[in-house]
Amino acid sequence: MSELLYEGKAKKMFTTDDPNVLRVEYKNDATAFNGKKKAVFPGKGKLNNAICTKIFHVLQEKNIPTHFIEKISDTEQLVKAVDIVPIEVVVRNVVAGSLAKRLGLDEGVSLGRTIIEFYYKSDELGDPMINSDHALAMKLATEEELAEIRRQASRVNDVLQTLFADAGILLVDFKLEFGKLKSTGEIVLADEISPDTCRLWDIKTHEKLDKDVFRRNIADLPETYEKLFNRLEAVQ
Ligand code: TMP
Ligand code: ASP
Repeated sequence: MSELLYEGKAKKMFTTDDPNVLRVEYKNDATAFNGKKKAVFPGKGKLNNAICTKIFHVLQEKNIPTHFIEKISDTEQLVKAVDIVPIEVVVRNVVAGSLAKRLGLDEGVSLGRTIIEFYYKSDELGDPMINSDHALAMKLATEEELAEIRRQASRVNDVLQTLFADAGILLVDFKLEFGKLKSTGEIVLADEISPDTCRLWDIKTHEKLDKDVFRRNIADLPETYEKLFNRLEAVQ
């Protein structure tokens, strides 16, 4: 028996016979600006599943705990069931997007140090930015869990900066979500890492290889994701 547990903007989650395992299906939908902009791109689900699988494999090789189990079809993965920590963790290496807007900084300027930001995961409120005091007061996570989330986010950044640099790509910023394993409570990286959730620029030309091509009407999304996929596949 497999039941739809949850449908998000870009993925569906289904139960499996094992209560500790879920099946994720990547959809062809793309949304931006909290769902205000929408489109369907045939092939997007397959590309994101392939790219995310590659990334999770690399993270697991570096002993970063994730919810990922295996890719089971073009558009599906098996993952460990978690309780999602309702915090979106954004890691930034280069100024872009909302950081540029909010602080009046120029996009493309390298930050002297990595910035980690927390957002309260709430579509209703439009994911407002919070700090650790808010997270603790709202009991979104404990102090130990927040420290672990920061530590893992920083390790993910180190590993992914290297992976993308090897493909000639600059990891500008990205969003992570963490969960607590239903089985043990351990904090693990969850959700997805894909061009939907990262900003990725060609190191030399700064050509965008992520969802900003859709958000800003710059280029064809599947063509862009395919280019990214091919560049990652070429990395050993
Ligand atoms: P931002 O500059 O719009 O705050 O986005 C920072 C990074 O987080 C960027 O790589 C895109 C990613 N992101 C998501 O994955 N989901 C979201 O809902 C938002 C707003 C950003
Ligand atoms: N993922 C969010 C949305 O669909 C925002 C974004 O990535 O721009 O609306």
